[in-house]
Amino acid sequence: MALSPLQSRLAASLVASCLLLLLYLILSPPNFALAAELQEAWPVLLDEGNFPTGPAARSLLDPTYEPEFSPFDRSIIGRAPPGFTSLTNNEPMPMNVDEGSTQRFVFALPGVSGRQIEEDRLELRDERIVSGDPSAGAGAGAAEHQEQEQNIARRQTSQRVYISANTCQQPQPIDPSKTTMDPPQLTLYVSTSAENQAPGPLANPASQATVVFNEGAAMYSFTTNREVYIAVHASNVSDVFSGIYNFRVVASTERYYYSYDAQEDADLIWVDSDSQGALLITHDLANNTNAEPYVLFAHNKNDRAINGLKYSYCGLQNYAQIATTRGEDMVRTSMTKRGLSNLPKQQFFFSGLNSSAEYIGILAKDGSSTSKRQTTSTGTTLVFNATSFSTKSDHGNCRLIVDLSFCDQVAYSVPSNPTTFGNATQLAQFYDSFASTMYANFNKSLAQIACEAPSTQRYSLARNCSDCASAYKDWLCSVTIPRCEDFSNNAAYLQPRAISQPFPDGKTLDAATLAALNLPNTTAYNSSRNPRIDEVIRPGPYKEVLPCDDLCYKLVQNCPAALGFGCPLPGQIGFDGNYARHDPSGGLTCNFPGSAHFPSGSQRAVVNWGLLLGAVAVGLLLI
Ligand SMILES: *[C@@H]1O[C@H](CO)[C@@H](O)[C@H](O)[C@H]1NC(C)=O
Ligand SMILES: *[C@@H]1O[C@H](CO)[C@@H](O)[C@H](O)[C@H]1NC(C)=O
Ligand SMILES: *[C@@H]1O[C@H](CO)[C@@H](O)[C@H](O)[C@H]1NC(C)=O
Ligand SMILES: *[C@@H]1O[C@H](CO)[C@@H](O)[C@H](O)[C@H]1NC(C)=O
Ligand SMILES: *[C@@H]1O[C@H](CO)[C@@H](O)[C@H](O)[C@H]1NC(C)=O
Ligand SMILES: *[C@@H]1O[C@H](CO)[C@@H](O)[C@H](O)[C@H]1NC(C)=O
Ligand SMILES: *[C@@H]1O[C@H](CO)[C@@H](O)[C@H](O)[C@H]1NC(C)=O
Ligand SMILES: *[C@@H]1O[C@H](CO)[C@@H](O)[C@H](O)[C@H]1NC(C)=O
Ligand SMILES: *[C@@H]1O[C@H](CO)[C@@H](O)[C@H](O)[C@H]1NC(C)=O
Repeated sequence: MALSPLQSRLAASLVASCLLLLLYLILSPPNFALAAELQEAWPVLLDEGNFPTGPAARSLLDPTYEPEFSPFDRSIIGRAPPGFTSLTNNEPMPMNVDEGSTQRFVFALPGVSGRQIEEDRLELRDERIVSGDPSAGAGAGAAEHQEQEQNIARRQTSQRVYISANTCQQPQPIDPSKTTMDPPQLTLYVSTSAENQAPGPLANPASQATVVFNEGAAMYSFTTNREVYIAVHASNVSDVFSGIYNFRVVASTERYYYSYDAQEDADLIWVDSDSQGALLITHDLANNTNAEPYVLFAHNKNDRAINGLKYSYCGLQNYAQIATTRGEDMVRTSMTKRGLSNLPKQQFFFSGLNSSAEYIGILAKDGSSTSKRQTTSTGTTLVFNATSFSTKSDHGNCRLIVDLSFCDQVAYSVPSNPTTFGNATQLAQFYDSFASTMYANFNKSLAQIACEAPSTQRYSLARNCSDCASAYKDWLCSVTIPRCEDFSNNAAYLQPRAISQPFPDGKTLDAATLAALNLPNTTAYNSSRNPRIDEVIRPGPYKEVLPCDDLCYKLVQNCPAALGFGCPLPGQIGFDGNYARHDPSGGLTCNFPGSAHFPSGSQRAVVNWGLLLGAVAVGLLLI
């Protein structure tokens, strides 16, 4: 394509203009405007007395001051201003900070030239880029922020910056018996304002964002096209606490490197515990989850070492009593498909815990460990809100069993006795083989039913024999394998059992205790539901979480009438002492396959695990 004379003249003059502009920019660095403005804009900052103490508190007159109008990017110069540490995109920077002092960092956006930064500085001298709201989380400072964002949107190089930090180490009380408070949290200060290049507790609050760490973690994000000045400050409580803080800070233009999820509905569910162990399980994971995606930290509630660090991944690694990341044998982790959904979940089986003790479990995800297998460069960690759990008393007559081969949904404490069944595997086999023997009898009866007949000749158009068999199995396992609670647990829904037997340690309930209980002298209280338990295991007094009534209704609903199943209704003879009803608020008041100590009121857990059965029961009662 040939250009007309007019077009080629235009092209030539365009090229010439561009070259001229380039020459102009190279020959005259645009610092003449800066000199004039400095006079007005910096008088306060020139007053050295206004600066916080510490190495970062340099004045602009400092001989080591690096000219702001340098045509080069800091990354080309290769060093941050004195007292500042340069942050590299997505790279954690470990740092100590003493009580009462401040560490400062500078983060240059990747791909923004020094000239660009300088031009923006001149242009936006008076603009306040971040809100000074101390409670500012990621989404705070709304109105001001929005305005800034509109300004910023006009410029091409604006980027979202995610700053996150974790406290890995904190000072310890000088006298733990006197100090009841926890060490104060660190504070993160962020400024993108040229006026405030030394953010911190003494800088103008309006020119910086202030984020107090929450349980050892801070997250703050904003949009900018300029250099970011970051400070982490530790308050001075050296009269009560001694030692330093150690933290890691990361600036990223892609995501939070360290994050936490403070939602109440933690992804971790406490299933059950015995006197020295506990079973915790995650919510349903995606179908194709094979590797174990989570790590777990656990800590005795009475021990204060992790207070103030519960959202900090490295803090938990350093201070938590039990951590799956350390490969200890106190916790075993595996995948399971137990529960109604049949989706994979990760489970954590603790042993070696103290009896009658309160613990917290904290679930976390470590992106850096998965990145070794995948090739993506994530290094992010995510820490969830803690889940509380407790262990049972040291009478030792409730024992947690898991991994039964027939009753594969059973994972809870059962009546036990260390002197008759010291081995949990053998205890599990005792219960499991009893249930599967009972099932074999039922299976013979079911064989009499015309299961394989054409649907019009079957006992129901809607149900078939496999529905019946599965309902029977759920019911049978819950009824033959009682869920055990401490005898000292006074919850109203629990059924006392075997009250006149001795405990495994030989003690019996004294007459005064029995009289105070005011229980009728009947076998419902005097024995276990299944006589084999009293004959073989002899657990002594315990309380039973009764099977849910809807397990029985489901059985009647799914099986042919010829099998003769029937269920007592609440208030009728045979209901009390045999079945209990679901707690409408979601607590654990009855036993069903996959049951657990759901956080009460947590809709998500109830829908996933409990309401499916509940709906069936309600449907039946209405008929
Ligand atoms: C911290 O406070 C103590 C007095 O409470 C003081 O002696 C010490 O110098 C202070 N340290 C810093 C770094 O300000
Ligand atoms: C974390 O969970 C606890 C219950 O375990 C709850 O009391 C607390 O409010 C939750 N935290 C937040 C921020 O929701
Ligand atoms: C899991 O896989 C099963 C079949 O393999 C499918 O029916 C189900 O919808 C899947 N569930 C999810 C949550 O992907
Ligand atoms: C058990 O209790 C002892 C004494 O109170 C304590 O030192 C220890 O840390 C506790 N262990 C666990 C795992 O809670
Ligand atoms: C429990 O018994 C099983 C076999 O019945 C055995 O393999 C296992 O080692 C025993 N465990 C302990 C702790 O003795
Ligand atoms: C139940 O009986 C059927 C044959 O009628 C058999 O195929 C099945 O394996 C039996 N199930 C159990 C658990 O015994
Ligand atoms: C029984 O019915 C269920 C649906 O209720 C169905 O998934 C299953 O395949 C049926 N089984 C047989 C043996 O027909
Ligand atoms: C309960 O009744 C049995 C006989 O039915 C009797 O032997 C026993 O002493 C009674 N126990 C109490 C505590 O009353
Ligand atoms: C209760 O159990 C004791 C011992 O197991 C027995 O002696 C007593 O007769 C039982 N009482 C009833 C009412 O079953």
